[in-house]
Amino acid sequence: MEVYEAIKKRRTIRRFEQTPVPANALETLVDSARLAPFGANLQPLKYGIVTDEDKRKLLFPHIKYAGYLPDWDPSFEECPTAFIVIMNDTSIKPTDKTECDSGAAVMSMCLAAEDLGLGTCWLGAIDRAEIKKALNIDDKYDITYLLGVGYPAQTGKVYDMTDSVKYDFDENGNVRVPKRPMSEVLIKL
Ligand SMILES: Cc1cc2nc3c(=O)[nH]c(=O)nc-3n(C[C@H](O)[C@H](O)[C@H](O)COP(=O)(O)O)c2cc1C
Repeated sequence: MEVYEAIKKRRTIRRFEQTPVPANALETLVDSARLAPFGANLQPLKYGIVTDEDKRKLLFPHIKYAGYLPDWDPSFEECPTAFIVIMNDTSIKPTDKTECDSGAAVMSMCLAAEDLGLGTCWLGAIDRAEIKKALNIDDKYDITYLLGVGYPAQTGKVYDMTDSVKYDFDENGNVRVPKRPMSEVLIKL
């Protein structure tokens, strides 16, 4: 798939089929993160793959999906069948300033996933302390984000935003995402 096509096609997916994602596809995503750009090329991030159902059940209460849809929460059976836990290795970068590094890594994974026919949900509304405990993660790793991965059970489309940034689901349960139009974001310098 052309990169620009993947960029246009990618949407945050929050309802997933329960078909497992092959291990080699998940490793391809981690490899895509590994090859991302990093400030000073420190490459401070580490990645954990969670597919085990018992572990996913432990994560379930510590993840908030779709903050703009307060009346909707996915059931466990709609959730991603895999999670990639993105962690800052504080022995490499002993600060919490890994937002940009994490962003580059996560976006690389989202686009690689698109190419593999997988859907992703970038997750920041998570209880990092509880997830760290649940997965028995070493103290030197700070969780930055989770990436939910799986085969999509919904589609997504964008439209030109008028007055609200809030995404919603249409009558078929597919996501509609307002994006600020080019005329608003492209500034003449
Ligand atoms: C840093 C960051 C954190 C996010 N955290 C969550 C989250 O906790 N739960 C969720 O459902 N979506 C989360 N998202 C997804 C955004 O809601 C989504 O990217 C946005 O609505 C635009 O939709 P799009 O990704 O389809 O373009 C997050 C995205 C980013 C970049």
